[in-house]
Amino acid sequence: MFNGKIPSVIAIDGPAASGKTTIGKLLADRLGYLLLDTGIMYRAATLAVLEAGIDPENEVMVMAVAESAEIEIQPATQDDGRQYTVLLDGKDVTWELRSERVDQNVSLVAAYPAVRAEMVRRQREIGDKGCVVMVGRDIGTVVLPDAPLKLYVTASAEERARRRVADKEEQGIDLALEDVLADIRSRDKQDSEREHSPLMAADDAVQIDTTRHDPDEVVSHILTLPI
Ligand code: CDP
Repeated sequence: MFNGKIPSVIAIDGPAASGKTTIGKLLADRLGYLLLDTGIMYRAATLAVLEAGIDPENEVMVMAVAESAEIEIQPATQDDGRQYTVLLDGKDVTWELRSERVDQNVSLVAAYPAVRAEMVRRQREIGDKGCVVMVGRDIGTVVLPDAPLKLYVTASAEERARRRVADKEEQGIDLALEDVLADIRSRDKQDSEREHSPLMAADDAVQIDTTRHDPDEVVSHILTLPI
């Protein structure tokens, strides 16, 4: 694979529900690397803000909470369909991170430069150790600009909404496709248009459209890419 040259870190970016985390996990397992889904960190910071009863519009207070939030990502501690366990200040918040209130506020919280600076600092510490697949919105552009392999994973908004609805259905949650599509479009817009570290492909990223390809096919293709 990779013509024998294995990249020490792989950066994967892309919009909501594009399949980037699934692909990242398959790649990480294949290489024996750690997977860091950076969206979890922004979600945990957002939950910390909501739990503290702070208005997410209040940038100064949000900043303070995000900076002091202790976020720990561990291997799954329960067999309930989770891929990992996330502790926020010591409390298991794995499922709460996917709640609607977090979905609706995360892009606002993630747009504040001070929140990003703190999360990027934490992400680089992990990236510096190598053997990592890091997934997010600004990994190839800002967090790990020297990553030897950068992927930008996309799919049509309709396909992404369908995937998100199917994922939730597996968890016993029924969502209307139109609502999910509206949330995805709104987050795409907020993430792409924000001033700091907007969602975009790095110039040297390999673009991968997963609309018509399942994750195994995509990963097989990635492993043939020259580095
Ligand atoms: O899984 P999904 O794509 O829905 O979202 P996520 O990857 O968990 O990320 C949630 C939100 O966090 C995104 O919509 C972005 O606003 C923000 N985020 C970011 O700004 N930068 C990252 N590196 C990762 C996520």
